[in-house]
Amino acid sequence: MTIATSIESPQTRSAPAQRQVRHVVRGRPTSDGAGVKLTRVIGQPGLDMLDPFLMLDEFRSDQADDYLAGFPNHPHRGFETVTYMLAGRMRHGDNQGNSGLLTAGSVQWMTAGRGIVHSEMPEQEDGLMWGFQLWVNLPAKDKMTAPRYQDIAPERIPEVQLASGVTARVIAGSAGGVTGPVQADATSAVYLDVRLAQGTQADLAIPAGHNAFIYVYEGQAKIGDGNRGELLRGDLAVLDQGDNVRVAAPEAAARMIVVAGRPFNEPVAKYGPFVMNTQQQIVQAIEDFRSGRF
Ligand code: CO
Repeated sequence: MTIATSIESPQTRSAPAQRQVRHVVRGRPTSDGAGVKLTRVIGQPGLDMLDPFLMLDEFRSDQADDYLAGFPNHPHRGFETVTYMLAGRMRHGDNQGNSGLLTAGSVQWMTAGRGIVHSEMPEQEDGLMWGFQLWVNLPAKDKMTAPRYQDIAPERIPEVQLASGVTARVIAGSAGGVTGPVQADATSAVYLDVRLAQGTQADLAIPAGHNAFIYVYEGQAKIGDGNRGELLRGDLAVLDQGDNVRVAAPEAAARMIVVAGRPFNEPVAKYGPFVMNTQQQIVQAIEDFRSGRF
């Protein structure tokens, strides 16, 4: 039984703090997998990481040669990979016999944990392939957790109207009183896909203490009210602290992903697809992978 006592202590409730843009980063063209062309926005010299986010890639091409080679079998340990498809079809399969098809508008939130070997291959020979892959770190206590998939079909992602002409698909976290389907307990992650008609704006709540970024993938936008907030397509804004952010589209319609997560402030040892806390754990991961223990 719980005794409900509510003793109000005098509190000074501070006014909501609007986050501003700390700096803007542009991605670098690169290739990964068996030769897929993509743009690396987080995980490159301009932005090594934004705790707990280790990597953000955008893949977008209607040239089959840019994506056909796909990502054949490769391992992961120690973090989560989040694939969000805007266009195209990607087939996923792993060494545990799991397989699935990622279609436009769907999300796969994969917790690699102690280890998975998987492939991500396009299931199309022409047409547009467009989406994102985000790597979300796991805290030390969860790095060796059992692998887990959250495959979210497009119709399971709620869409909410935040203001006139502003809508958000809520993948993780909450917006406008609606909570997304993904469970990401370690980071309490927020992942929104926001669309603004020209001439509109909205304030988005972002938990205080979370690190947060906004990546504009179509049109152009204004973030916050500082002079660094003018973003073009392909710009990623790292936000400073606060509990909300203002997004606006004064010049043209805009589409953007808004992502936030609780930082771990733990040491990071990275080696390709293995992300652990120490070099010794990396050596162990390579050994475990080579001897088929994933
Ligand atoms: Co992978």
